[in-house]
Amino acid sequence: MKKKPVILGIESSCDDTGVSIIRGRDVLSNIIIHQKIHKKYGGVVPELASRLHDINITKAVKKAFLSARVTRYQIDAVSFTLGPGLIGSLLVGASFAKSFSMGLEIPLLTVNHIQAHILSHFIRNANVNNSYPKFPFLSLVISGGHTQIIKVNDFFQMEILGTTLDDSVGEALDKVARMLGFYYPGGPMIEFFSKNGNNKKFTFSKPIVNGLNFSFSGFKNDVSQFIIKKLKKNTLFIKHNLSDICASIQKIIAEILLEKVKKSVIYTGIYRIVLAGGVSANYEIRKTFMSFAEKHKKYEIFIPNKNFTTDNGAMIAITGLFKYERNIFDSLHVTPYSKFKTFSL
Ligand code: KG4
Ligand code: ZN
Repeated sequence: MKKKPVILGIESSCDDTGVSIIRGRDVLSNIIIHQKIHKKYGGVVPELASRLHDINITKAVKKAFLSARVTRYQIDAVSFTLGPGLIGSLLVGASFAKSFSMGLEIPLLTVNHIQAHILSHFIRNANVNNSYPKFPFLSLVISGGHTQIIKVNDFFQMEILGTTLDDSVGEALDKVARMLGFYYPGGPMIEFFSKNGNNKKFTFSKPIVNGLNFSFSGFKNDVSQFIIKKLKKNTLFIKHNLSDICASIQKIIAEILLEKVKKSVIYTGIYRIVLAGGVSANYEIRKTFMSFAEKHKKYEIFIPNKNFTTDNGAMIAITGLFKYERNIFDSLHVTPYSKFKTFSL
């Protein structure tokens, strides 16, 4: 039997240092070191993020090797996030991966972060469906940096059908959460406090955006104005209504996302939907999509397991694996990019 490649994946595009070792499509280890320092700043501070990646990367790599029970000589290739992301953070992962590749004389593989979120569904047992989505499918990528609908024809053939014109959904959630008094990242806090809340208590305006694009800045402002107005009348408004506010915010967000997905199905005739990115960890969004799929049997909806929603090294390793299998290697001269470039090879 052919030996399955062992790939080391390194993710450092934002504030999480992710290092994973996979053998074929099986995850042997998946270590994530979160940077808590950004909590008090209400968002990621780029300079602090890169410094902490620098400190954390060797710790994460050591842990990944220990937990996978493999030695560095068993690694066949090293894969890392080339972009998009924070340039200082990306440079730390890139430098580490390049040194590792050079030192061990093994191939270097570069990965697009968004593509990796989508391809995380090809890790064994990575989604609640316990199966790999068949091509073609539509992917709804919802994260702190991006909100996009992407038509996925193959591992490396992807086409953006819609994107946000302003804030990403994660960014909007994090900003609204800050107004409610939560630390960064606010998305999980909104989810936590929404429990037992009445999701119909408050309504917020839905953005009107043509085609398959999104917009979340209007929604964010609407929620902010609503809170400011209420606080003027009652300074304890947030305290007394926190779970209802959080539940209502989540419900509207889930509806906006589902409506756009339904529209993209009408445009493309593709009923296979794959959710990806940090915001897809959200309970209300998952529930909304799952119950929609139960009622509409033509739809097939793939929801990632929670550990593969937010940034992780395993998604970088699996994307690297597909390049490795096609003998698509990169040179030591590659440089990270902060803005979205391309999905093509
Ligand atoms: O994919 P990700 O880890 O990083 C980027 O590529 O941006 O996504 C981070 C985003 C943050 O905005 C965070 O608030 C949001 O995902 N997030 C959530 C949840 N977990 C993470 N939003 C809502 N509910 C959650 N449970
Ligand atoms: Zn991400």
